[in-house]
Amino acid sequence: MIVLGLETSCDETGVALYDTENGLLAEALHSQVDLHAVYGGVVPEIASRDHIRMLLPLIQQVMSEAGIDKPDAIAYTAGPGLVGALMVGGGMANGLGLAWDCPVIPVHHMEGHLLAPMLEDEPPEFPFLALLVSGGHSMLIAVATLGDYRVLGSTLDDAVGEAFDKTAKLLGLGYPGGPALAALAEHGDDTAYQLPRPMLNKPNFDFSFSGLKTAVMLEVRKAEADGCLAERRADLAASFQRAAVDTLIAKSIKAARAEGLERIVVAGGVGANKLLRKEMAERFEGEVYYPRLAFCTDNGAMIAVAGALRLAEADVASEIKAQARWSLETLGVPSGT
Ligand code: KG4
Ligand code: ZN
Repeated sequence: MIVLGLETSCDETGVALYDTENGLLAEALHSQVDLHAVYGGVVPEIASRDHIRMLLPLIQQVMSEAGIDKPDAIAYTAGPGLVGALMVGGGMANGLGLAWDCPVIPVHHMEGHLLAPMLEDEPPEFPFLALLVSGGHSMLIAVATLGDYRVLGSTLDDAVGEAFDKTAKLLGLGYPGGPALAALAEHGDDTAYQLPRPMLNKPNFDFSFSGLKTAVMLEVRKAEADGCLAERRADLAASFQRAAVDTLIAKSIKAARAEGLERIVVAGGVGANKLLRKEMAERFEGEVYYPRLAFCTDNGAMIAVAGALRLAEADVASEIKAQARWSLETLGVPSGT
């Protein structure tokens, strides 16, 4: 079966074709980052309009690259995300489903992220612990099997990607700041500042990143007052990254041990962070899996593979599903799995 995957939940238009026998056939991604950068964050209306502009050309591009006229099913991100942006992908998927007379599968965006490592040559086996870290989420999930997800902990305030982005802004870096902050951190000393590792000593698996961000803000103000911010920026970036990554790794390992899980999957945009990838593998005694860098951030391939795994739930095009909020725990195991 060949599944067309469409991702339009936020500011990337992602399209991919996944073959259940031969893997990924083609994929294309259009980032709207430049459009939103002037506003310092994603503007929902601009996002929807740009998805409308780009989606069909990208679908035509992957179909012609893969040399196929029609997929066997279409998967689209149905939430969580910006409702207007989701409607573009949902409308397109259902319209094409009617035209091609093929089934349509609504996919949960975060399930797409946590299944992204299934696109790699050595995919993880179930069960595993998933650390899902993106601009909107920081979650630890016990994954028993496809669709059986138990959220062990999540963020009480800012998501870790959001904390990277806000801290980057404080340091005068552009939007989105995560990758820029990580690049600057490579030139800094991560022991220069003693920043808090929030929630590390709490017995639960929740995160909190706003205190860490505030601690950096106070140091930035101090450095500004002392006239030495320019030479301290890299040290601040490195110290922030170290504190955030230490917290994510310590909580993940603790959760994996508590649940008796021997595999950890790191996914979502912050999963592209090199320090996190390197140190999780070094510090965890079990196996650690990641998607390739390009599939950590939003993309169509993860939606196509999640759709392929949920083919049992495919239905004829009937309604456009678009949910701003949607709990992973409500998904359930697809029948016939
Ligand atoms: O998963 P994603 O593409 O979109 C959401 O669903 O949110 O994640 C985007 C987030 C942004 O906050 C971005 O700054 C962060 O991932 N990010 C990074 C890195 N690359 C992307 N954060 C830290 N280090 C990176 N290398
Ligand atoms: Zn995402």
